[in-house]
Amino acid sequence: MKCTKEHRLEFTDRAAELLKGMTLEEKVSLMSGKMSLRQEMADREVDPENKHYNYIPYPAGGIERLGIPPMLFCDGPRGVVCGTGKATCFPVPMLRGASFDVELEERIGHAIGREVRAFGGNFFGGVCVNLPYNPGWGRSQETYGEESFHLGQMGSALVRGVQEEDVIACVKHFAFNQMENARFKVDVTCNKRTEREVYLPHFKECIEAGAASVMSSYNLYQGVRCGHHHYLLNEVLKGEWDFDGFVVSDFYWGVKDTVEAANGGQDIEMAHTLYFGDKLVQAVRDGLVPEEKVDKSALRIIRTLLAFTAQHKAAADPSVLACGEHVSLALESARKGITLLQNEGQVLPFDRERVKKLLVLGTLGDKEPIGDHGSSWVRPPYVISPLQGLEMAAPGTEVTFHPGDDLETARKLAAAADAVVFVVGYDHNDEGEFVSEDEAEGFTGAMGGDRKGSLGLHPKDVELIKAVGPANGNAAVVLIGGNMIMMTEWKDAVGAVLMAYYPGMEGGRALGEILFGDVNPSGKLPFVLPHEEGDLPAVDWDATGQWYDYYHGYAKLEKEGKEPLLPYGFGGSYTTFEISDPAFKAEKDQVLASCKVRNTGGRAGEEVVQLYVGFGNSAVDRPVKLLRGFRRVSLAPGEEREVAIACPIGKLAYFNERTGAMEVERMEYQVYIGTSAHDRDLAAGTITI
Ligand code: BGC
Repeated sequence: MKCTKEHRLEFTDRAAELLKGMTLEEKVSLMSGKMSLRQEMADREVDPENKHYNYIPYPAGGIERLGIPPMLFCDGPRGVVCGTGKATCFPVPMLRGASFDVELEERIGHAIGREVRAFGGNFFGGVCVNLPYNPGWGRSQETYGEESFHLGQMGSALVRGVQEEDVIACVKHFAFNQMENARFKVDVTCNKRTEREVYLPHFKECIEAGAASVMSSYNLYQGVRCGHHHYLLNEVLKGEWDFDGFVVSDFYWGVKDTVEAANGGQDIEMAHTLYFGDKLVQAVRDGLVPEEKVDKSALRIIRTLLAFTAQHKAAADPSVLACGEHVSLALESARKGITLLQNEGQVLPFDRERVKKLLVLGTLGDKEPIGDHGSSWVRPPYVISPLQGLEMAAPGTEVTFHPGDDLETARKLAAAADAVVFVVGYDHNDEGEFVSEDEAEGFTGAMGGDRKGSLGLHPKDVELIKAVGPANGNAAVVLIGGNMIMMTEWKDAVGAVLMAYYPGMEGGRALGEILFGDVNPSGKLPFVLPHEEGDLPAVDWDATGQWYDYYHGYAKLEKEGKEPLLPYGFGGSYTTFEISDPAFKAEKDQVLASCKVRNTGGRAGEEVVQLYVGFGNSAVDRPVKLLRGFRRVSLAPGEEREVAIACPIGKLAYFNERTGAMEVERMEYQVYIGTSAHDRDLAAGTITI
């Protein structure tokens, strides 16, 4: 039996019973994190390798006397952050988003859940579904893409997988948290439609999938800190969405006021106590926080922990950590997410018979492509670099590595090689989690932050590709990064481009297999790639106030009639697919779309069939179309299959500002099925609702 909401609610009476026997201090202690930041910092200084952030699960809650188990927090999302050299490091969610594979994400959730339990934890803080308003957001790698529907599908799959292993899944950061450098100070504003249609639905989807915890964000929304946000936490999450679990604050600086936070719906101040604890007890005594508020939070915490603990019978099993099955899953994920963006002249795959001398260029070639060094840093037993992956894929090929800092030498080496692979993009210094000293009271955290300046490659890499690419007819660029990287400037200097994101501990192996054709690339872009950065919304990364427009990403380009360089949902393959016999209907409460997909090329391959719904007849301003379903299919050469995709009609709704409700318009909708968001890849029809 799973620890579903229904199952958890069965523990309400027991939790209420326990509450009756508790003092105010005990109830408040459940709401107060138990780590000491000072102690943690001291530990880290003594032994930074082993005593890094979250090296053991962080406790909160729990009262031994009453048999209430503690919550034991393990961060993510690219695996479990605990331990050193132990956990499986999966590709980052952005790559997993590019796989468009919900079933695979659920299996990753299971593996992560098992590893959380192996570390002695019971809480996974790594379901990140924030939607990047602009791809420069430094923590984009932790989320799945730019599209709310897709985020909801992927995030809820992770929730299901993790919770089926009896581990509480925490969905974060609620809400509007998609600017890193300014995260402690920025006040995000937008209109109601943007809030309800663009930034909240994916959170709701995860709650509907049964997520038992939510982490509030640091930033402000409409002038109120999200960790204190009565409207977001009490009204929307716990009220409208009927969320039964508990909210935790983002760590250390997510709560800034005892009374506001407790009354605003914050259940646990993490990871240590600054504003809850004694201060909260006093606030209750002073009549500033009704005791009933504390009771409600305590009940949520006790109920959830009792339910998950009762559910879990097995003892912790460390043998599952980075076990064969989990590592294979990391590899499968990398294989399915890496995305072929360009393949002029069929440069790829390389032919082992012809490529006897291979040159790998770029400083990232021999680095570990696993992502940033912030709170999501997983330390696996090993990481295969792109260089190692290429050496493994072609044992009979002489592989030379050069960082590319000396253009003349690089050009000579390239001219003498049979093929060249540039490995360029970003690392943990360029993008990722960031804590600045002035914002966080003397604490300086790991580098990263939002991208500085541009969404393109570093000038030195652009120069390298432009200078050296033309020296070899078999040149491919491998891009490493957590979100879209501009290509306009340099793409013509090489034949092929692969987007590798941060592919995880087995990422180098997957890259080698794809470059040499053992694996057919099948990832799809979970974001649009424009011709110009200016086609995307502008963000001031240091702002104290930021407006989010209704349109971003592909929806913005389509609305403005701007052709993208590469459309949302696009990804190349070494084989070809043909879509035929599209059919659409609206039946009962569902949109049903189907088509046939045939593999018309000479290799086995996987394709992601996508369903979009268009709103051309709407009475209000709406996107041209939006993704409303997708399905991955695997096809042998010549094989044809029928693919059916269903979407609940409720997902076509817009927020009616007049009635204050989500409503489905009665009208004719355009519907599209195909292999990317671009018209040329879609078969169109209509349905009437
Ligand atoms: C991050 C969260 C993380 C928490 C714990 C915060 O700075 O925003 O994603 O779970 O720290 O370290």
